Amino acid sequence: MLLVTLLLATCFSILYGSKSVFVCYYPGGADRATENRLPISEIPPNLCSHLIFAFSHLEDLQLKPQVKEDVQLYSKFTALRLRNPNLETLLSVGGGGYGSAEFLKIVASPKNTSIFINNAVRCLRKYNFTGLDIDWEFPMEHKEEYSILLERIRERFDKEKLLLTAALGITPGIVQTGYDVRRISKSLHLMNLMSYDLNPTNMTWGQSPLHRVQHGDAFYQKNLNFDWLYDYWVKQGAIPSKLVVGLPVYGKEYVLKDRNLDLPGSPVQGPPKSVNYYSICRTLKNNWNYWRWENQQFYPFVVRGNKWISYDDKSSIRAKTFWAVKKRYAGVMIWQMQGDDVTGNCFSGLKFPILRAIKDILLNEIY
Ligand SMILES: *[C@@H]1O[C@H](CO)[C@@H](O)[C@H](O)[C@H]1NC(C)=O
Ligand SMILES: *[C@@H]1O[C@H](CO)[C@@H](O)[C@H](O)[C@H]1NC(C)=O
Ligand SMILES: *[C@@H]1O[C@H](CO)[C@@H](O)[C@H](O)[C@H]1NC(C)=O
Repeated sequence: MLLVTLLLATCFSILYGSKSVFVCYYPGGADRATENRLPISEIPPNLCSHLIFAFSHLEDLQLKPQVKEDVQLYSKFTALRLRNPNLETLLSVGGGGYGSAEFLKIVASPKNTSIFINNAVRCLRKYNFTGLDIDWEFPMEHKEEYSILLERIRERFDKEKLLLTAALGITPGIVQTGYDVRRISKSLHLMNLMSYDLNPTNMTWGQSPLHRVQHGDAFYQKNLNFDWLYDYWVKQGAIPSKLVVGLPVYGKEYVLKDRNLDLPGSPVQGPPKSVNYYSICRTLKNNWNYWRWENQQFYPFVVRGNKWISYDDKSSIRAKTFWAVKKRYAGVMIWQMQGDDVTGNCFSGLKFPILRAIKDILLNEIY
């Protein structure tokens, strides 16, 4: 009996757990933050399989540090590999709000693309990065150019033994105008799907729901959830073993219009703001009116007065990670490391509770 159990456990980890990737974005500003600061020297080198420095910008077809001091951080960041030789350390270029203008210069001509690729390889090598993550948000109406850009980078990166990944918008609206999914799926080593910020802004809701709600056929009720969206990507031609399931280390804080209407789907005073997990878990220690669990879509929310916050805790994060493993996708990605409780304030000294919850599932220690 014991032997059978052991065998099953071993097979399970061969099939799923052991090779799953755990992609963690590290924001450049974290080293300089004043609250919940995460200097590079305190990043655990064995927690994530892929660390991505976010973000570099672009200028004259070159990768350009967002602020000058980032250059010093690049070397410290990639030096984490000295403490874990299997760790991948990538540089991400672009980011939410960075726009398309500089990317459009790169794809404006084959010559510009070549110049950019040469420059990028030189920069990555100089600072010892093991790959590049493209975070062009979003190549709307430039589907063809985007596919070609990724193909040309990949061709060169194969010779250089560098990794190519991308952060990708997940919703059909972005996919239809921006991505030839089948084509980009071939060029990328990993596809980091940003499966968060999916909430409607005009009512209380979760931003990263696992399942659909049982009743209701509106798009946000039926389609904006992991089950439907990841299925959609596979149907569009994505290679499942390259899909990295994006998870948020933050929640959405709304202001209720009416304190008596406080279930998901209730009217609000305006769009929500994003709040890091660490600030949610710290305030949870104070007297919140109540904490509840949304059972169909699988996330917790808390209410105090007219404040309403949906977020991801260890339980919902575990469920989503397990879902990703069961589906045999590549693994999970988080945005972003500094959203977690990096100092161990919430759970008597346990640092990185959310990241550790993910790692536990990926290591197959907890089901
Ligand atoms: C090429 O890149 C430069 C920036 O270095 C830009 O000014 C130019 O518009 C781009 N496009 C073409 C077609 O050369
Ligand atoms: C890159 O790594 C090598 C060792 O592999 C080291 O000698 C060098 O200083 C590193 N460069 C930077 C810029 O970190
Ligand atoms: C809120 O927006 C969604 C679309 O995101 C729409 O279907 C719904 O009817 C709106 N609800 C309210 C209360 O305005």
